[in-house]
Amino acid sequence: MPDGLTDISAFEQLESNVRYYCRRWPAVFVAGRGAHVVAETGQRYLDFFSGAGALSYGHNPGFLVEAVIEHLRAGRLVHSLDTHTPEKAGFLRTLERCVLEPRQLDMVVQFVGPTGATAVEAALRLAERVSGRRAVVAFEGGFHGMTAGAARVSHSLPARDHTGCRFLPYRAEPDHEDLVLVARALATPIDGELPGAMIVEPVQGEGGARPFDRRYLGELRRLCTEHGVVLIADEIQAGVGRTGPFFSFEGSQLDPDIICLSKSLSGLGLPFALNLIRRSLDRWSPGEFTGTFRGSNLAFVSAAALLEHYWSQPDGALETARHGELVEEALTQLAGTSRVPFSITGRGLLWGLTFDDERAATAVVSAAFRSGLIVEACGERDRTVKLLPPLVIRHDELVEGLEILSRAVLGLSEAD
Ligand SMILES: Cc1ncc(COP(=O)(O)O)c(C=O)c1O
Repeated sequence: MPDGLTDISAFEQLESNVRYYCRRWPAVFVAGRGAHVVAETGQRYLDFFSGAGALSYGHNPGFLVEAVIEHLRAGRLVHSLDTHTPEKAGFLRTLERCVLEPRQLDMVVQFVGPTGATAVEAALRLAERVSGRRAVVAFEGGFHGMTAGAARVSHSLPARDHTGCRFLPYRAEPDHEDLVLVARALATPIDGELPGAMIVEPVQGEGGARPFDRRYLGELRRLCTEHGVVLIADEIQAGVGRTGPFFSFEGSQLDPDIICLSKSLSGLGLPFALNLIRRSLDRWSPGEFTGTFRGSNLAFVSAAALLEHYWSQPDGALETARHGELVEEALTQLAGTSRVPFSITGRGLLWGLTFDDERAATAVVSAAFRSGLIVEACGERDRTVKLLPPLVIRHDELVEGLEILSRAVLGLSEAD
């Protein structure tokens, strides 16, 4: 081992076999800024994975780093359970002003433990309390987390226990038959009980960057209301601006009863999760759903600063739509020249290239990494290369990343 480099045998000898991304990207990362991360060898990588969607605002945004350092220097509270702090009040008021009021959402905030899966667990539990029923309708390709309840409704975890859950197919262009299917699913008992909740990612992340049709989302709302079913939107990956607007369902009539948020909400990659709950459905009793890490004041400070900075205007202060068009154009052109065929899906800055060939996506991921670009495979049998560049990426960085990706795709031969 060359002097000064990290001894990676520590990971091999002491860390569980479950470790995963480190096998995809066998480097030791030491620093990050904006769209780049740096390995300890000095190699720079463009990051089009953004911490699985947790770093939509790039690595270490200067103004958020400063806000957090100032908070720590001043000796303010870091951890506060669900007691009152000025930082929590500040976050709640900023959320109200930047997110809730402009969208006329009469919703209350439930802070949950720090992960997306905890938000989903809480949403399912509340839906059960409201409807009196535990059965859930979810979607093929959906992913909602690894804890028991979240995994139960995650189609992309086939080995898990899905008792009491029915999965509806994902269709890019749904027709009348698909709506009949939804209506039937909501009216048919699942393991002996009618469904009490529906959970949907309006734009699927792990399922392969797949947006649901906006009119279909509106129909889901109508049908859920008709059947007394609580509608949960999982915005954990596609929310907080990833697809352009703050919520990925904007522009549809989905109007969810509960919205799960996490990942990029703190802006800095700090663990943070919450649910927005339609005020009339806030049936929790005090202390009914707890969690030690619901009061992360660093996250309150950072999230409030993020919202203030980028979301003081309802449309946000980012160029996501324009950047998204550039990505779509580049991918369309690439699809026209690639010998190995793939289809393109996505919205905003969440895009997927789905190959028929089962080995192609992972081959692209490895080739891109060798050339300094971090992208990940996802979707059914890992057939999709998913692009999640930071929303704050510069034009030249986006072009450079797309060029590396193109070379990786064009380097595939049909035999690969
Ligand atoms: C849509 C969605 N929901 C829930 C989760 C689970 O979040 P976490 O890994 O923080 O538990 C994820 C994670 O990728 C996700 O993409």
